[in-house]
Amino acid sequence: MCGIVGAAAKRDIVPVLVEGLRRLEYRGYDSCGVAVQINNTLQRVRTVSRVADLDTQIQTHAIHADTGIAHTRWATHGAPSTRNAHPMLSREQIALVHNGIIENHDALRVRLQALGYVFESQTDTEVIAHLVHSLYAGDLFSAVAAAVKQLEGAYAIAVVARDQPQCVVGARAGSPLVIGVGLHEHFIASDALALAGTTNQIAYLDEGDVAEILPDQFRVQNAHGDAVVRTVQTVRVDESGAALGPYRHYMQKEIFEQPRALADTLEGIESPAPELFGEQAPAYFARVKQVLVLACGTSYYAGLVAAQWLETLAKIPTRVEIASEYRYRESVPDPDTLVVVISQSGETADTLAALRHARSLGQTITLAICNVASSAMVRETQLRFLTRAGAEIGVASTKAFTTQLAALFLLALSLAKVRNTLPEQTIVAQMRHLRHLPRAVSAVLALEPQLMAWAARFATRQHALFLGRGLHYPIALEGALKLKEISYIHAEAYPAGELKHGPLALVTDAMPVVTVAPNDALLEKVRSNMAEVRARGGELYVLTDAHTQVLTEEGVHVVRLAAHYGLLSPVLHVVALQLLAYHTAVTLGHDVDKPRNLAKSVTVE
Ligand code: M6R
Repeated sequence: MCGIVGAAAKRDIVPVLVEGLRRLEYRGYDSCGVAVQINNTLQRVRTVSRVADLDTQIQTHAIHADTGIAHTRWATHGAPSTRNAHPMLSREQIALVHNGIIENHDALRVRLQALGYVFESQTDTEVIAHLVHSLYAGDLFSAVAAAVKQLEGAYAIAVVARDQPQCVVGARAGSPLVIGVGLHEHFIASDALALAGTTNQIAYLDEGDVAEILPDQFRVQNAHGDAVVRTVQTVRVDESGAALGPYRHYMQKEIFEQPRALADTLEGIESPAPELFGEQAPAYFARVKQVLVLACGTSYYAGLVAAQWLETLAKIPTRVEIASEYRYRESVPDPDTLVVVISQSGETADTLAALRHARSLGQTITLAICNVASSAMVRETQLRFLTRAGAEIGVASTKAFTTQLAALFLLALSLAKVRNTLPEQTIVAQMRHLRHLPRAVSAVLALEPQLMAWAARFATRQHALFLGRGLHYPIALEGALKLKEISYIHAEAYPAGELKHGPLALVTDAMPVVTVAPNDALLEKVRSNMAEVRARGGELYVLTDAHTQVLTEEGVHVVRLAAHYGLLSPVLHVVALQLLAYHTAVTLGHDVDKPRNLAKSVTVE
């Protein structure tokens, strides 16, 4: 959600801090700031504008320094304002940036106020800055180590002290933090991506670690206070994602990258096999009796599609749960469950907590479907499949979703193979279909002009209803989520059969009704639901396939995909809905890649 960058070097690191923030900005963009240590003073610049504005201010003040920290914020405690922007200062001696949420901030604030500390912001972060200051006696590392012992909640922090040149101290619990190693310089960041172009030598900090970076060395202490070694690895940070190329927005670029992303994800995979998910997968897949999918947002909708594939193809009972619900409810655990977490980032706090909760209940066969190899989820699961969508910058997830679907389809076929639920020729035919997906998606992208025409009409509406059935109900949900998150048009999705059980009351000529109506076994049922809408004057926007009897007429707009794509049809229909949402938001003049109130990775609860 928020982003941290810090550096201790023997050169001017301000450009590195700014570039790091630029790379992280898509994750949180309510405000940003830097604090650097210069000649035994701390200098701070903050703005509620974007990193570009921060950079201008830095240039205007000609700020250069060899030590500093920087932050881009997604507001949790306290509105987005300059006053609440990080870094927080304590008595001009300590500067601190923070990702996460401190749950006991109220109690700590009362104690610190009693010690005479004056609070200038409404943030929980300022509490940590004053706490570190209250414990500081010339050794920042010890002060931070002592301070974090008093924190409850999730945090990744980076701290500098006025009196300690060329030193940055970081600590993490519940939010990621990495150390970057350079020649006579070290860095700290909430994601290796921030350091792309500066270093690819990365050490990942563990839960409870406290670390100190100096130009020529770094050291780490674990949660028990023992000195530990965190191995430095060479990581492949995808920098290509950062370039916009000919596109107007990252979301547009990412929608159009889907054929490539799918091809990369499926590269080298000739046939489904448990080994694709890890060395131990054959043994586990032979043992599991059910599947439990845990995820949030778009990734949850991928899970809903996958559940139908898993039950249809592999005949394995599958449950899909919203991670933030599962983690707090009483459930009946079964050790022979395959727990699948789906996440673009692999850092979503609720999904990570749900995974840990599932494990704590004895469900230890865990699989991550994830787009980030170095993420916590990939590190904490026994099995994994990495989607190769490349960096997804737009807050609205697009290519991550379709590549998750490809991975989940492979999972269903692999389990089908192990469980012997499909004839070999069916598996071969389904694989052929899967490998053809990149081309089929390209054909959907060619429908963009028609979806732009729909978007022009949607941009004048306040509400929209999305309908789908079977495999396409989750696609209706995803279409509605895409539209609401970037166009701010209120959108709801229903299984089309539920229409008459309530939502039909909303249908008037002011309510566009998007219906996902592929040429499958449920088409006639969906057509009846469409007739119910038309009978109430509702305007229909129908996504269908070639050869259906769904025709354009008064009040019925039709976009037709090429021939029906069988079980993989959701992957195609969703692309059309992504384009609809994108062009609606563009027509309305919204900041498509950074929609209001949202952030890319939700690393706080
Ligand atoms: O990184 P994750 O896939 O775990 O993220 C889950 C959701 O936060 C994410 O899909 C969110 O719903 C997107 N903004 C939707 O476009």
